[in-house]
Amino acid sequence: MNYKVYIPRDSSALSMGAEKVAIAIALEAKKRGLEIDIVRNGSRGLYWLETMVEVVTDKGRMAYGPVRAKNVAGLFDADFLNGKSHALSLGLTEEIDWLKKQQRLTFARVGITDPVSLDDYLAHDGYKGLKNALNMSGTDIVQAVTDSGLRGRGGAAFPTGIKWKTVLGCESEIKYVVCNADEGDSGTYSDRMIMEGDPFVLIEGMTIAGIAVGATQGYIYLRSEYPHALVTLNEAIAAANNAGYLGGNILGSGKAFHLEVRRAAGAYVCGEETSMLESLEGKRGLVRFKPPLPAIEGLFGKPTVVNNVISLASVPIILDKGAQYYADYGMGRSRGTLPIQLAGNIKHGGLVELAFGVTLRELLYDYGGGSYSGRPIRAVQVGGPLGAFLPESQFDTPLDYEEFSKIWAVLGHGGIVAFDDTVDMAKMARYAFEFCAIESCGKCTPCRIGSTRGAEVVDKIIAGKDTVKNIQLIRDLSDTMLNGSLCALGGMTPYPVLSALNHFPEDFNSQKIVKVAA
Ligand SMILES: Cc1cc2nc3c(=O)[nH]c(=O)nc-3n(C[C@H](O)[C@H](O)[C@H](O)COP(=O)(O)O)c2cc1C
Ligand code: SF4
Repeated sequence: MNYKVYIPRDSSALSMGAEKVAIAIALEAKKRGLEIDIVRNGSRGLYWLETMVEVVTDKGRMAYGPVRAKNVAGLFDADFLNGKSHALSLGLTEEIDWLKKQQRLTFARVGITDPVSLDDYLAHDGYKGLKNALNMSGTDIVQAVTDSGLRGRGGAAFPTGIKWKTVLGCESEIKYVVCNADEGDSGTYSDRMIMEGDPFVLIEGMTIAGIAVGATQGYIYLRSEYPHALVTLNEAIAAANNAGYLGGNILGSGKAFHLEVRRAAGAYVCGEETSMLESLEGKRGLVRFKPPLPAIEGLFGKPTVVNNVISLASVPIILDKGAQYYADYGMGRSRGTLPIQLAGNIKHGGLVELAFGVTLRELLYDYGGGSYSGRPIRAVQVGGPLGAFLPESQFDTPLDYEEFSKIWAVLGHGGIVAFDDTVDMAKMARYAFEFCAIESCGKCTPCRIGSTRGAEVVDKIIAGKDTVKNIQLIRDLSDTMLNGSLCALGGMTPYPVLSALNHFPEDFNSQKIVKVAA
């Protein structure tokens, strides 16, 4: 009898020694004369338990973690291959509370299937959406995506269906679909997890996008620091090509869609869509003026759908189960689910996919388990390095684009970075300016010059020099950057700066501000 063992190939699991664990398990099985099949799956997203090893038993998949190579012999002694108890036992994977409470639509297969097995993908509802799409008109596919309420998960939350409709309406022999997989935001990794754990769902989503708008060529602009995602994507693309799910005649439909991966340039600003298109064209990643919109004049001047990984990976389930199925999740104008990434000073960091509407507090405490250090969580930054810092008094805000906008914050790509009460918010504000200065493409003055001057002024505040005057200077500078920058890199740097200043004035040589305010 062959035992089946799942050991993740996800980068985070690898960083926790998954490769060593896989080798140790293979060697130990050989030593004991046991036949085992090792499947290298994606991560289930419980990162504090990596390396999480699962074995298939007649009751279901049993999980063990965090496993280190040194634990392997003991696991065999305890007969873990038959799901027997061990100090690292986590029970049936599907019964782990953290996973069970989630609503995994986009991440439905991640951690469950073999990421590069097309057969496994098909056996778990894969390509059902594409098969439906091939029997629909472009207009109907676009309508389904519009009706689902899906909004861009890359940061700007623009309705995906409306974007596709613009590209569909353009007359052009050549159109493109570009997937933005640059994933530069701090504390975010959902794109990477999908690409390493279920690359076919992204490929399927891009193929549906191509068929919908009449684009025959797609590119995935992949963050240069994602070497493992590059391998899984290329393996999956090759398998899809071989089986006729990509190429010149998709499943005999006469429709074509070709797909290639391009490694990104390694700059945060290259995640901005127009800068990304410049970079894809082989140029320096300089932000373009808008209009024209990329949907009308995008890659090489042709109509182009630009979407984030998660936006595209959410499309197959919409085309499979219907727009209403997806739209039934969520609140207000934020429909569907959001893969939320818990990071920073948090006890249980990992991926939580839930319908919009869950509060920050639930995420931080019910899922995150509080801070890693055990100290009170003082602030969280939501939405990457350009997102606002939120104090404890705002932790009951539900995750919803409009609710966040009301408190002058953004959801961005769904990354939440927690800080305990040892954080110095003046230093965080300084870092926001510094980050902007380092990553600025240099095209416009408020961002290029303002970011450097901003960091200098915060230094003066920290040193206690003319605090009141310099804080006013920061406010004026932020106003200029907010309203005068060409793109959101300069335009949103005031979010972390002003939120730090407004919510945590005591960190900015406080007494003086408090006195003035009184
Ligand atoms: C400085 C900057 C960096 C960005 N980085 C990313 C990124 O890494 N990934 C991404 O999908 N969108 C990023 N965006 C947003 C993109 O410009 C664009 O809105 C998005 O790719 C559109 O896809 P969506 O509608 O599916 O969200 C960035 C924007 C800015 C201003
Ligand atoms: S805001 Fe910054 S990154 Fe954006 S165009 Fe201006 S200089 Fe470039």
